[in-house]
Amino acid sequence: MAGGVELFLRIVLPMLVLMTMAQGANGSQAEKDLIQDLLRNYDVMVRPIDKYNDIINVSFAVTLQQIVDLDEKNQLLTTSMYMGWTWNDTYLKWNPDNYSGIVEIRLPAKKVWKPDILVYNSAVDSFDQMLQTNVVIWSTGAVEWLPPGLFKTTCDVDIRYFPFDEQRCTMKFGAWTYHGGMVDLALPDENAILDNYIPSGEWDLISMKGHRTSVKYECCPHPFVDVTYTIHMRRRTLFYGFNLILPCVLVCSLTILVFLLPADSGERITLGITVLLALVVFLQLVADNLPPTDVIPLLGKYFACSIVMVTASVVCTVISLNFHHTTSANTNTMPGWIRFVFLNFLPRILRMKRPGENSFRRKFLDNQAEVVMDGKVEEYPLMVAGERLGNWMGTNQTELSPLNEAKKELNDVLHEVRFITSRMHNDDEDEKSALEWRFAATVLDRFCVIFFIIYFVVSTLFTIAVAPGVLLPPDN
Ligand SMILES: *[C@@H]1O[C@H](CO)[C@@H](O)[C@H](O)[C@H]1NC(C)=O
Ligand SMILES: *[C@@H]1O[C@H](CO)[C@@H](O)[C@H](O)[C@H]1NC(C)=O
Ligand SMILES: *[C@@H]1O[C@H](CO)[C@@H](O)[C@H](O)[C@H]1NC(C)=O
Repeated sequence: MAGGVELFLRIVLPMLVLMTMAQGANGSQAEKDLIQDLLRNYDVMVRPIDKYNDIINVSFAVTLQQIVDLDEKNQLLTTSMYMGWTWNDTYLKWNPDNYSGIVEIRLPAKKVWKPDILVYNSAVDSFDQMLQTNVVIWSTGAVEWLPPGLFKTTCDVDIRYFPFDEQRCTMKFGAWTYHGGMVDLALPDENAILDNYIPSGEWDLISMKGHRTSVKYECCPHPFVDVTYTIHMRRRTLFYGFNLILPCVLVCSLTILVFLLPADSGERITLGITVLLALVVFLQLVADNLPPTDVIPLLGKYFACSIVMVTASVVCTVISLNFHHTTSANTNTMPGWIRFVFLNFLPRILRMKRPGENSFRRKFLDNQAEVVMDGKVEEYPLMVAGERLGNWMGTNQTELSPLNEAKKELNDVLHEVRFITSRMHNDDEDEKSALEWRFAATVLDRFCVIFFIIYFVVSTLFTIAVAPGVLLPPDN
């Protein structure tokens, strides 16, 4: 048993291996001969055509694999693609019968002639970003080359409608040195091949189309040919909607609450400033992602509107608090225009009534005040009482010193009473003035609530309405 295994290992297995190798040697010998025959007189630098004036037609195709990234700040698009170029090489033809029926071979790219096609708007140091993979050659002389690459190209990013934007990025391919009279590019299908496309998380691919351009310059008799592909894509807005727009809208709506907060709570300014700071942080986030151009993106405009609104609300709050805490009539007489705007004009528009406007006490106080002011109290009632008393006691007042004394005292009392009355009257005036100021503050608050609600709703709706793809159909 052991001898059988040894025999197998020592004699049969090496024979089997040798036989297999011999067969392989036959096959690869034909390929070796073929390659030697093909490349014996081959010159990589010679354009493989029969007559010098012939044009090599390169059939052009592009397969898009992935949109890796669009860097808005540096205006760079990174895509993963591979090319699909085929052309006819007149020196690379053979009869398959002479070479064990081999119909196709693969050669390193640097061994055969290739059109020097490059991406014109490349944005990397080495410029050429294509991997020099093998070329596939058929016995008819057809050569196919599929170099893959991670292409970083410049892209004119239009941020006007960020984050509701669509971008059109172009990639221009062309033979760097050969003009249209030597190498021509043909585009059998204008659509890029998307069979292997991996959808991007940030971008919806709308289309990728190419077109061939042939430009003839004054200088040269031959045209210059290029193929330009345009990647048309639309941003998926949900990310920005969730992380920037929604918080901004919510924070802005807090601005309105500032005016509903009681003035005595002392928290109004704090709330306003906090909202302002939150918005500045959001604006900074947006600004960090965008190129520093003089084009302001839609989101930036909305944030700017919001910041103006919050700042204005803080200013209004300060004015309103100032009104609210004004108490003394003597030091802060209400100017006529404030009285007109906040006590007559705005309340009528906002349908607000002054508290106690019709109360009996106020009317009574007003009447009393008028009486004091008019000086009717001079004769009434103490003075008159004193005089009557004098008349009743006797005709000559000077002779009756006790009576005179009494009258003097009555006069003193009268003075005191006048003083007290005027103090009370002043206090009433102060209270009335404070009530007026407080009412003006209430009117201002109410006005601000309505004004900022309208401003907020209009600016939000306007932003949504202007953004393409939200209400308006996207421009194609
Ligand atoms: C390339 O195409 C042009 C026109 O499409 C044709 O005239 C020319 O013969 C072609 N060149 C070759 C080498 O087939
Ligand atoms: C190569 O030659 C074949 C036959 O001559 C022709 O059908 C094919 O279109 C040519 N390819 C190109 C890219 O010109
Ligand atoms: C290739 O084979 C053909 C016949 O199939 C023959 O005429 C020709 O001479 C052979 N060429 C070479 C180089 O062997």
